[in-house]
Amino acid sequence: MHNHWLSIGVSSCGLQLRRTLMARLQWRTFNSNGRHRVVVTKPLVGENWLETLLAADCRVDQCLSERILSRAELRDAIGSRCDGVVGQLTEPWDEELFRALKSAGGKVYSNVAVGFDNVDVSAATRHGIAVGNTPGVLTETTAEMAVALTFAAGRRLVEADAFMRAGKYKGWLPTMFLGKLFYGKTLGIIGAGRIGSVYALTMARGCHMDVVYYDQFQNEQLERKVRETGSLYQQLGERCISIRRAETVEELLEAADVVSLHTVLDASTRHMINNERLRLMKKDAVLVNCGRGPLIDERALVQHCREHPDFRVGLDVFENEPKMAPGLASLPNVVVVPHIASATVWTRTGMSTLAAANVAGIIRGDPVWNQPDVLAFVDAPSVAAMPRAAPSIVNAKELGLPQYKQMSRL
Ligand code: GLV
Repeated sequence: MHNHWLSIGVSSCGLQLRRTLMARLQWRTFNSNGRHRVVVTKPLVGENWLETLLAADCRVDQCLSERILSRAELRDAIGSRCDGVVGQLTEPWDEELFRALKSAGGKVYSNVAVGFDNVDVSAATRHGIAVGNTPGVLTETTAEMAVALTFAAGRRLVEADAFMRAGKYKGWLPTMFLGKLFYGKTLGIIGAGRIGSVYALTMARGCHMDVVYYDQFQNEQLERKVRETGSLYQQLGERCISIRRAETVEELLEAADVVSLHTVLDASTRHMINNERLRLMKKDAVLVNCGRGPLIDERALVQHCREHPDFRVGLDVFENEPKMAPGLASLPNVVVVPHIASATVWTRTGMSTLAAANVAGIIRGDPVWNQPDVLAFVDAPSVAAMPRAAPSIVNAKELGLPQYKQMSRL
């Protein structure tokens, strides 16, 4: 494996400042004589992603710098020859970049993320470029972070930890750090897809909470699981749990003690939690967001938290990442973490592998995997044992890409 450090060439045009910034980026190249060229815009986790690309005879140019790449830097990285890109949710993959990728001979772009609101999929489709994402390995990991933020916010863990470390604890008091009990309360889920459902089941089963969910589709599986758990609890003489689907977001917000957001970000969900809707919530409710920052009007949230000190919030994502709205960081009733809901070694290794497999698969002309279970890729004992398919291409249908057919075992 070829593994040397180099700087990607700086285009002759552009401002001096841009040149300086570009020159500061650190890149490394693997397999410099590879048949296809793939740009990887950030350090990834594990080794499988790299082996996957090398097995498809790709030259891999990987940016090692932590700084978020600008559109101009991405265009320069694509250059005049690029077959595919493994990119990040922090990058603006729009018409301009897909046009550049197409002119460079590109066929595929994959986010290392399940969400792809940073990608203009219609533009990619117009240019005949496949867009990949990485579902199936983040579900439990992200749901567990939402659970962690629920408890951290509701039980004031960060405030109490800071208090201890500051040497302020002088002895037990009945009045210190009173928080919220979840047992037997009502849990509200906005978006009952995979992550929302696992979060709902973990909280409802663990804390015997009743579930109310809002989603455009009925989730019969989630309803059945909650009802069956409820029957079991009843048989055991424990508190039964229930589930119902709310007709409106407002109905859910009024009823719930905890509200967790698990819906996609699009024009219809941007600022779905705004000033008016915050006012409908219980004054001591807990609000958790591990979805996308712009689901919440963050300025309105700051104001609401100032006015209602018992209202508690756990945020993994922010409206203008990496920035926080003015005042958010100084609110004691808000717990903030830097978009790490999917950050476990297994999940990030899996996401890196799936993104690379999307790119390698399309470059090789493989069909598209058509099952939600992607463990055949991430748990394969070797790259050679992975299915010959691109695991998750979101515009496969629009591009008319062939579907993977399971070989029948005789
Ligand atoms: C992370 O936010 C993701 O969408 O995977």
